[in-house]
Amino acid sequence: MAKKAKRQKPKSRTAARKSSRKMGKLAAKKSTKKSAKQSNGNGLPKPSSKPYGQNGKALTGVRILDFTHVQSGPTCTQLLAWFGADVIKVERPGVGDITRGQLVDVKGADSLYFTMLNHNKRSITIDSKNPQGMRVLEALIKKCDVLVENFAPGALDRMGLTWQRINKINPRIIVASIKGFGPGPYEDCKVYENVAQCAGGSASTTGFRDGPPLVTGAQIGDSGTGLHLALGIVSALYQRTRSGRGQKVDVAMQDGVLNLCRVKLRDQQRLKAGPLTEYSQYGEGVAFGDATPRAGNDSGGGQPGWILKCKGAPEDPNAYIYFITQAPVWGPICDLIGEPTWKTDPEYATPRARLPKLKAIFARIESWTLTKTKFEVMEACNAVDIPVGPILSMKEIAAEPSLRKSRTVVEVDHPTRGKYLSVGNPIKLSDSISEVRRSPLLGEHTDEILTDVLGFAAKDVAEIKNSGALSAPKKEEKAA
Ligand code: COA
Repeated sequence: MAKKAKRQKPKSRTAARKSSRKMGKLAAKKSTKKSAKQSNGNGLPKPSSKPYGQNGKALTGVRILDFTHVQSGPTCTQLLAWFGADVIKVERPGVGDITRGQLVDVKGADSLYFTMLNHNKRSITIDSKNPQGMRVLEALIKKCDVLVENFAPGALDRMGLTWQRINKINPRIIVASIKGFGPGPYEDCKVYENVAQCAGGSASTTGFRDGPPLVTGAQIGDSGTGLHLALGIVSALYQRTRSGRGQKVDVAMQDGVLNLCRVKLRDQQRLKAGPLTEYSQYGEGVAFGDATPRAGNDSGGGQPGWILKCKGAPEDPNAYIYFITQAPVWGPICDLIGEPTWKTDPEYATPRARLPKLKAIFARIESWTLTKTKFEVMEACNAVDIPVGPILSMKEIAAEPSLRKSRTVVEVDHPTRGKYLSVGNPIKLSDSISEVRRSPLLGEHTDEILTDVLGFAAKDVAEIKNSGALSAPKKEEKAA
């Protein structure tokens, strides 16, 4: 039976006053707390008073199950690792990421291809097709915030790791994938860098008009897509702070390349309105077709530009400079090259008047650049705000002191290959300072991940190891 409610004794006036004062104090305390919180902005913690660089890293506490290989996926997870994520690279026992053994320059050591794409990661070997291997993978899925993969279409599903299953094991996990193509007729195709450059519109718009399409040296298909994926991942991590759940992040290499070629799709649409006047073929009187043409070394923006020889060319293949005849600095250009009358001559004074004669104008400028090294041209031009780009060789870049100082080019030591140069993190955060640590040896961290991260007991570790899930099949098994 319910007890009778006790009748409340009326409070004495002093008690009531005391309690109202107490309430008032509490309310005041609460409201000061609230306003302090608000003044820190949307519930964010108070700004740290620690010196910059001593607050952990941007992604400290984020754990990545890195199922990537070759270049596109590893580029993405390397960036996340530089920002402080704990990246656990899962590799096939005995073989590892195929790039470990590609383009080998030091016998017996991991290649530069691998080492330069897998800094700051840990490596565990797991055969995903072995039931004990799957047990380890499932344990990792439970412990990780993000799974990143760039297998061929369908490969992850064939392993049994469908999105539904991964999401059931850990609804908070983000599953990030790179494929060659998005949904459509080519979705099942395997894709490498140059395939993506061709399918994403880069090759058809690169090269000279009278030559074949060209691929570029910049790895816009692989590394470019990895960059896109990294942004998708951090965005999904941020959304998870509100939604509490994971999601899929998909980037197709074709889409990534196209995104980097968007100015060429711009030009495709501009063709309807008439010829593309900033393309040198316009000045040369060559008719445009119905697709964005290759523009040689024309500048992609509205300012005419071209690559010109400097002192030493063509014997020195990199004695060239990119020269832009930007309208606001036309006067200083005329003075530098010794054509002061061009400043006022109506045949040269305006961009419109110059357009049909760009080839001749660049030839004249080249007769001046040929008298100087590319660095001398740079010095003379920058002094009067003329933008120019020296064609730097990889040899020059490797030796450039300012790039070493900014840690964009770093020297890394490796136990089997010795010292080598790598490109460090090009994105500089003032409170999340990147250090570049060497890439892991194959399976170097298998034991510590099983015990420290996954908490497997010694008998479980022994069971998993005895099943062969973490080691390469013996020779006779391989042959059978
Ligand atoms: N344990 C067991 N099997 C493993 C494994 C592991 N740890 N890691 C990978 N495998 C298996 C996969 O399950 C797959 O097996 P399946 O074909 O029987 O399903 C097999 O290895 C091969 O994987 P796949 O991704 O097809 O490699 P590939 O060398 O044949 O193709 C690419 C390489 C890059 C062409 C392909 O992965 C791809 O198109 N990726 C997407 C686009 C991309 O990123 N391309 C750029 C790469 S820089």
